[in-house]
Amino acid sequence: MTVINVGLIGLGTVGTGLVRIFHENGSLVENKLGFSLRLKKIAVKDISKAREIPLGKSVLTDKAREILDDPDIDIVVELVGGENPAKEFIISALNKGKSVVTANKLILAKHGKELFEIADKNAVDIGFEASVAGTIPIVRALEEGLAANKIEKIVAIVNGTTNYILTRMTQTFKTFDEALKEAQELGFAEADPSMDIKGNDSAYKLAILSMLAFGMKILPEDVFTEGITGVTPEHIERANSFGYVIKLIAVAESFNGKVSCRVHPVFLEAKHPLSAVQNEFNAIYVVGNAAGETMYYGRGAGQMPTASAVMSDVIELAERHFRDCKKKDCPSRVMETKTRSLFWREKSILPADEVFNKYYLCFPIVDQPGVIGKITTILGVHGISISAVKATIVDKSKNRGLVEIFTHSVREGTVKKALAEITGLSMLTESIFFYRIIE
Ligand code: NDP
Ligand code: HSE
Repeated sequence: MTVINVGLIGLGTVGTGLVRIFHENGSLVENKLGFSLRLKKIAVKDISKAREIPLGKSVLTDKAREILDDPDIDIVVELVGGENPAKEFIISALNKGKSVVTANKLILAKHGKELFEIADKNAVDIGFEASVAGTIPIVRALEEGLAANKIEKIVAIVNGTTNYILTRMTQTFKTFDEALKEAQELGFAEADPSMDIKGNDSAYKLAILSMLAFGMKILPEDVFTEGITGVTPEHIERANSFGYVIKLIAVAESFNGKVSCRVHPVFLEAKHPLSAVQNEFNAIYVVGNAAGETMYYGRGAGQMPTASAVMSDVIELAERHFRDCKKKDCPSRVMETKTRSLFWREKSILPADEVFNKYYLCFPIVDQPGVIGKITTILGVHGISISAVKATIVDKSKNRGLVEIFTHSVREGTVKKALAEITGLSMLTESIFFYRIIE
């Protein structure tokens, strides 16, 4: 019976999940495949560390080279995370004629083009389903299910940690720090959780989705990125009071050939389908010109859901190896890959300042005559049209209040200019805060 050998580098949250799937679903997978899939070797950093799962003595090593240099290993799974040495492991595996499966969005977003070129040169492939939105098969949806479409828009929640934090802050009144700690304990957060809370992880994922959707080499620096570190319980309360929830949203959309990519918290209307996405769940709403609106939902982080996506790539690549092996009577283990045309257009990015949104603007003020007039006059001078205004006294003894304003759709750059002008007014007691609105 043919055996396809797999080498795993990294046995943390996701790597452990992959081993569990090999243990628990291995025979089911083999029955489906009709050949044997063997996890031959696992490389870790610290070999003395206690592991959650039983492993044969000869399986574990602290030398990734034992996997990379083994000619019998056909597929290398990289689940180390971070940039280096993970990137070096991937490049070495590809150059040795091995296909690679990775969940590493940072590396794909920053170096995807280079890696796919190396893979093509060596006639092998890279599976990266788990790099975006955990268990959700969104890479396959974009590459295959929606292949006939011109993608117009993606609106998504793609980070489990931040969605978990915002859900816990909203529903159980946990503090930001308490909720982040829980997300870390549950294995959702990155080794460096600032990647999650500052929005970088979402930006990496959006860059990958945009590359698949729009065929451009979109890099993380092309994604306008704001995280959730500035979101406070007061903001959540204000949002809820007007029928909104606060979510960290990733948006990529095409305007006359230009693409706008941005990650930031928004006021999301409570009746919007993405507002029902709670905890570590992710969801991706994609509009194609032929398919129309589609939506994908599932766990975006966590051990088994992510490992499920990793294993789906292992299975797909193993099948291709097996087919090629049969065709060629196994003279070599190198595959006849399809060449991926992931980048077929010149990059053309629409800056965030050029994008139109509706806004919620909140001005903490001293309650004195003419306050609302001064604010609305400046907005008016900048051509910002108001849809609603609410003024509230929050502390009568100190004469403090809030002026909250909802705008009609307006250019981001215009709003920023007007807010910079209003910031100079003496009646402001604290910083202005604002959120973009999605209805
Ligand atoms: P962990 O931090 O839990 O695990 C990392 C593993 O890599 C550890 O087993 C560590 O070894 C090993 N490692 C580190 N350096 C080396 C090295 N030089 N050689 C060999 N092994 C090494 O990470 P996760 O499992 O959480 O994440 C892995 C990847 O999956 C990341 O790219 C992450 O972004 C991605 N991902 C994670 C998700 C999640 O929910 N956690 C979801 C989707 C994607 P040791 O155990 O000895 O310390
Ligand atoms: N830290 C990531 C998240 C893991 O919370 O979504 C999944 O990519």
